[in-house]
Amino acid sequence: MSEASVVAVGTPQTFRQQLARVLEVEVDEVGWVQSPTAAEELLIDAHHPIDVLVLSPEVKEPDALGLAEFVGRTAPGTAIVLVRDHTWNGLLPAAMRAGIRDVVDMTQGTEELREAVERAIVWATNLRSQTVTRHADASRTTRGQVISVFSSKGGSGKTFVTSNLAVAVAQVTNKDVAVVDLDVDMGDVFTYFGREPTASIQDLMALGEGATSERIREVGAEVAPGVWAFGAPPDPAAEPPAGEAVGKFLRALRGEFAYTVVDASVDYSDSALVCFDLSDTICLVTGLDVVGVKHLAKALDTLLTIGLPRERFRVVLNRADSKVGLDAADVERVMKIQVDAMIPSSRLVPTSLNKGRPVVLDEPSSEVSRAILHLAARFTAEREETPAGEVDAFAAQPDAGRRGRRRGLLGAFSKS
Ligand SMILES: Nc1ncnc2c1ncn2[C@@H]1O[C@H](COP(=O)(O)OP(=O)(O)OP(=O)(O)O)[C@@H](O)[C@H]1O
Ligand SMILES: [Mg+2]
Repeated sequence: MSEASVVAVGTPQTFRQQLARVLEVEVDEVGWVQSPTAAEELLIDAHHPIDVLVLSPEVKEPDALGLAEFVGRTAPGTAIVLVRDHTWNGLLPAAMRAGIRDVVDMTQGTEELREAVERAIVWATNLRSQTVTRHADASRTTRGQVISVFSSKGGSGKTFVTSNLAVAVAQVTNKDVAVVDLDVDMGDVFTYFGREPTASIQDLMALGEGATSERIREVGAEVAPGVWAFGAPPDPAAEPPAGEAVGKFLRALRGEFAYTVVDASVDYSDSALVCFDLSDTICLVTGLDVVGVKHLAKALDTLLTIGLPRERFRVVLNRADSKVGLDAADVERVMKIQVDAMIPSSRLVPTSLNKGRPVVLDEPSSEVSRAILHLAARFTAEREETPAGEVDAFAAQPDAGRRGRRRGLLGAFSKS
């Protein structure tokens, strides 16, 4: 058992302990990631083959099947065992077709799970000794950076930050940027550019199935120099896309664009959570008021509880010039994360929205634009080796290199 690598996938975190108990090993001999999308990231990054992924009862069936399809394509030597806490009548054939090795009903006791995982380990180790395991998606050599923007309270300026940040990142890095509206019910990223989305959710999700560069840029709309927007008009009748499909869509964009900036929805929907799994930076936007900061602290707690690393988070204080007795230092002390930007309140913001032209394009030297350009320079400093001109000054700031490196999850538990 100590030779094998077994990873528990899905909330709650206690599923890991539960699995370790069932397998009669120490907890740190079992890995854990919070979702199927995080598991896909792990497989892409893995330095050592992963033998078995054991999916918790909280992992939804479409996400499990999507993960199985991904594993079949990129890590065919990894076995999947799906744990359910109900009988799975009808699921087994679909699961087997998708390449899932076993479906185990936990209500039947733990013996069945232990046997299933052991069988899966034997299968994976045999396979590995026969073939060279390919454990990275070789078809994608480049990987852009994903920055998601989230707020726990409506009207905080999330969409304003997302759209202007996308423009600023394109300007600062001189690279192509995707801006994505994942706020499916109320999205208005396009409005900030004076445009209407024309693609459908199906068009967007289909990009996750190996779309060409041409197709990706055709489905997106070039809304500003070097900025392609992806979104669909809200369709109340449509089923929200499965989280795992959203993950594939975002990965397709990440393969095509140097940076992808996402307006995540306000709730903890599947698509928001997947987006956080894939994000290198999660930018939390709040106003500088007690209620806003309280909401934000709660949101951060929730996101840390589901297993996202603290280093990934950044705070943007919007409308931050008001003298309200709270300042950035208070926020940093309460939240234990760095405040990356303070964006002042300005009537240029609503004016530019009415004009359909981002402030960063329309009034580049305004205080608001400078704050956002500054933020863009910090978020991208680590990737851009020789940023040009003014950006150099930003990159040289002591905070610029503080962004945590991508995590090496395997390192935490690998036995090798
Ligand atoms: N720094 C600012 N100065 C002045 N007005 C601002 C500022 N930031 C945002 N606003 C205004 O606040 C309103 C809400 O901003 P925005 O649409 O970005 O919020 P949101 O968080 O995306 O809201 P929702 O929850 O509805 O998606 C907009 O009318 C915008 O013009
Ligand atoms: Mg919005």
